[in-house]
Amino acid sequence: MGLPYIGETLQLYYQDPNIFFATKQRKYGEIFKTQILGCPCVMLASPESARFVLVTQAHLFKPTYPKSKENLIGPSALFFHQGEYHLRLRKLVQGSLSPEVVKNSVKGISDLTNCLLESWTDHNVLDTFQELKKLSFEVGILTTFGDLADHYRKELKRNYSMLDKGYNSFPITLPGTPYKKATSARKRLNSIIGELIDERRENKSCSNGKDLLGFLLDSNNDLTGDQIADNIIGVLFAAQDTTATAMTWIVKYLHDHPKLLQAVTDEQMEILQSNNGGENDGLTWSQTRNMGITNKVVLESLRMASIISFAFREAVADVEYKGYLIPKGWKVMPLFRSIHGNPEFFSNPQNFDPSRFEDTPKPYTFMPFGAGVHMCPGNELAKVEMWIMIHHLVTKFRWKVEGNQSGVQYAPFPIPLQGLPARFWKKESSEV
Ligand code: HEM
Repeated sequence: MGLPYIGETLQLYYQDPNIFFATKQRKYGEIFKTQILGCPCVMLASPESARFVLVTQAHLFKPTYPKSKENLIGPSALFFHQGEYHLRLRKLVQGSLSPEVVKNSVKGISDLTNCLLESWTDHNVLDTFQELKKLSFEVGILTTFGDLADHYRKELKRNYSMLDKGYNSFPITLPGTPYKKATSARKRLNSIIGELIDERRENKSCSNGKDLLGFLLDSNNDLTGDQIADNIIGVLFAAQDTTATAMTWIVKYLHDHPKLLQAVTDEQMEILQSNNGGENDGLTWSQTRNMGITNKVVLESLRMASIISFAFREAVADVEYKGYLIPKGWKVMPLFRSIHGNPEFFSNPQNFDPSRFEDTPKPYTFMPFGAGVHMCPGNELAKVEMWIMIHHLVTKFRWKVEGNQSGVQYAPFPIPLQGLPARFWKKESSEV
């Protein structure tokens, strides 16, 4: 269980979690205990146990987050809840992220991606992760508010970025600390969202009614302003770093595997040519659904990166699993990362090999978006965003990673060291 109170928190969050999990698993098997931030935890590293906790016995395990983080996001955000309220909110959030809705965002996402990539051509070294965070945030705003007036976008961005900086800081509310600044920014975000709600209710602003705000405001839902704001901030939060992390790894893996990059480029050039070199309306929804090699690169990047290393739950009663007692109140963590790195399910798991996805993985062995009642409702949008980013990147750009090319940083999601410093430049029109 590690040191008193601290337990094994530092090993888990600031070292390579692969090593932490693998060492424990070698010693104790697929189920073992530890202590994180003063909380006793049970970690589970098999597909059956993930299914048990997240799907078949999900009612016995509630989601759990530190209070300081819950307060910053907003306590009514769906991922802090289970039962009736969670289901009600989930239906609305899922509705705004359904394939039918995402389908209509392809052009918007494509334009945002092009706009960001065009700004990368000045040959400076860029922090790829920070750049891609700009994209995932803009896509989040598009999904949440549809077309949004520039002054609102700027204010949301400015305050959200303060919230983001404070989220992983030490939660003390002394003036000047990142956490205190984040708390103040969160209050301002509430007011901005409040204004947007009022405008929408008075029908002053333009919206296609299919964005997240539209779903949450539907008159049958009877949600309070705070419930709406908490869920909007929750979705923006769940969408930004996760998707940017995945895209950063994709940029790295393509850079490190020239043959794969060529295969992906060939696939994407064919699409570009069928769109008359981008002269037509651009990428279509059906084209995004038919990106064989590109999609396998996305899936393999999600497996290798295992952005969400584990789910975090708390046992609401004493639970028995395979003869072990999980006491009420203990934290319970199904370890996606360990399962994704298990050679029993993925041969040579440390090798980047998209061809492994020619076969469908066995049930509950591949869970980049989780499983069960809390499974990621944004997975379709995230995948579309990644496919579109790859399309524009490989058809129009070349890039070179600078500096240390193998390190990993935990922020707390695993990202390439220093956010993957890289130079990007535009291809000559004759290059393929
Ligand atoms: C590559 C990108 C993404 C990854 C890897 C990812 C991963 C996950 C995972 C593993 C969960 C389940 C967590 C748990 O069970 O405790 C989750 C939940 C969630 N995700 Fe994502 N996500 C991504 C992108 C997005 C996007 C783009 C959105 C929204 C636009 C989103 C919104 C959410 C929400 C709202 C939840 C909570 C669902 C609930 O509690 O019912 N995610 N995500």
